[in-house]
Amino acid sequence: MNIQSAYNAWAETYDTVLNKTRDLEAAAIRQLLADVPFVEVIELGCGTGKNTEWLAATAAHVTAVDFSAEMLGKAQAKIARANVRFQQADITRAWDFASRPADLVTCSLTLEHIQDLGAVFRQAALALQPGGVFYIGELHPFKQYQGTKARFDTGTGVFELECFVHHVSDFMAAGQASGFQCVALREWFDENDRDTVPRILALLFHRGTVI
Ligand SMILES: C[S@@+](CC[C@H](N)C(=O)[O-])C[C@H]1O[C@@H](n2cnc3c(N)ncnc32)[C@H](O)[C@@H]1O
Repeated sequence: MNIQSAYNAWAETYDTVLNKTRDLEAAAIRQLLADVPFVEVIELGCGTGKNTEWLAATAAHVTAVDFSAEMLGKAQAKIARANVRFQQADITRAWDFASRPADLVTCSLTLEHIQDLGAVFRQAALALQPGGVFYIGELHPFKQYQGTKARFDTGTGVFELECFVHHVSDFMAAGQASGFQCVALREWFDENDRDTVPRILALLFHRGTVI
């Protein structure tokens, strides 16, 4: 099963099964963007819309993008807002969905499925206005080093999705190469227990004026 098919299969249970990573990232994005103003948002890998409704409550407009028709279908069934446009697209291809300049691009729990971080940062830089913000929330690479991967129960067994490890330095290098400055790096822990391995890595990048 490729990544797209896997998310089509996972969509039915994605919202309902226990998933600490999903839930902790929801807390992370809300905290990290609490003081960030935004109007025009592109949400990459919106999935079933876990963060879409929250973004749309503040933004004038959200373009919510995912390549899984089933994940998008779940999001669309939940979110009926005139200021949200759902778009089925593969973010590793040209971002034809980025039709208006954004001041915020978000990407939650999606980059672990993308091999070429640099291509995403390059397109984010083009999609964002100068001074715009790129938020990234990912399963922490320390968890990946321990073997944790996106996985779900198919009904006949547990299926592990294809994942790529991106080290913290990889995010920094990809951001810098596309003219971004990292302005926040935060980690979230299960039960807020800082003696454990962090589960979520969240980063905020500012797009500079020169790319
Ligand atoms: C773990 S889910 C995260 C969904 C949501 N952002 C959340 O935090 O709950 C990853 C999502 O990324 C999407 N995705 C993965 N690779 C993608 C790609 N190349 N283009 C568009 N969407 C992609 C999947 O279909 C899936 O919905």
